[in-house]
Amino acid sequence: MVSDTPFALRAPRQTFFGCGELRRLGEVSKRLGSVALIAIGQGSVRAHGFLHTARRSLEAEGITAHVYEGISPEPLLGDVERGREAARSCRAEFVIALGGGSVLDVGKSIAALGGTYRPLTEYHSGTRACDEPGLPCVAVPTTSGTGSEATPNSVLTDPARRLKTSIRGAALQPEIALVDPDLTLPLPPEPTAHSGLDALCQAIEAYVSRGANPVSDLWALRAVRAIGGSLAGAVADGSNRGHRYDMALGSHLAGLALASARLGLVHGLAHPVGMASGKPHGLVCGAMLPMVIRANAEVAGSRYGDLCEAAGLGSPEPAAAAEALARWVEGLCEEFGAPVRLAELGVPEDELESIATAAASAGSTRTNPLEMSAEAILDLMRKNL
Ligand SMILES: [Fe+2]
Repeated sequence: MVSDTPFALRAPRQTFFGCGELRRLGEVSKRLGSVALIAIGQGSVRAHGFLHTARRSLEAEGITAHVYEGISPEPLLGDVERGREAARSCRAEFVIALGGGSVLDVGKSIAALGGTYRPLTEYHSGTRACDEPGLPCVAVPTTSGTGSEATPNSVLTDPARRLKTSIRGAALQPEIALVDPDLTLPLPPEPTAHSGLDALCQAIEAYVSRGANPVSDLWALRAVRAIGGSLAGAVADGSNRGHRYDMALGSHLAGLALASARLGLVHGLAHPVGMASGKPHGLVCGAMLPMVIRANAEVAGSRYGDLCEAAGLGSPEPAAAAEALARWVEGLCEEFGAPVRLAELGVPEDELESIATAAASAGSTRTNPLEMSAEAILDLMRKNL
């Protein structure tokens, strides 16, 4: 079949991938300036010596590094606000985000919005895109999950408005992604499982997305192959460098795929369900993915067949592929002790209606292969409690 649908690709300008690459941080980022703000979370990158390695590498290239520490596990607008003040006061020429998904999302936002005094809520409410050039960002993930180092969006939470949503725009795209799988070696089994489920979900949703294109397809399928072969192994034995390498590769490729193809209903639901349940993003995605795969089965059967092959599940007929993939995801969740149903996430039933309304208008839902109204989403959730 010949398709004439146009498409666009979004990716970091440069990517450095490999074990030990953190030691080259200064070398690869010196073209960006001589003063850097390093954004980190709540102590683990310091405790594991990664901050020390990063600073030494920067100092060796004559780069002065200031540290902005304490970013919340749930990235808040306040974390970005304090960070952009820190970037201004040290006259940072670029930002290095070193940490998990929330640190990357906050670091990218500091870089994109560091030059403006506009209220962050203008961007967070969706009235303004992050399109004006900001500071360059070097994104260095320490988990294999969100793939945020590859994407032009950040998920932020505003506790005052009880709103968790993405901000988007070209300025949020990292200038450099530096992916060093060794940085994920100390991650305990539970966050390894949760972040890995997010990466898996993102690869699957990007592949069946209405925004998928021939290049994002390659990335998404290769991501599912890498994650399918290594997620359970990385959770069982975090010291296995082969599995950690595959997971870092898979989550990065899933990030690239979603940056160009967008996602689907699981991610449309993930933010309001995450707010209502308070559960980690990857856990929420894992619990909702099987029901969404089954709902999409009729319109995306052959695409799910491709994903089954990539995941090593054989070559089921299109009619059986969605069920095979959904069962496989449920099996992984059960193996990790993660919920497989909505009710297990602890979402109050009286919040389902407002969750369905929020999910129906989410950007990710618009590229779900099956068109879903708020009523259809509510019905789906009620049947899968
Ligand atoms: Fe996600």
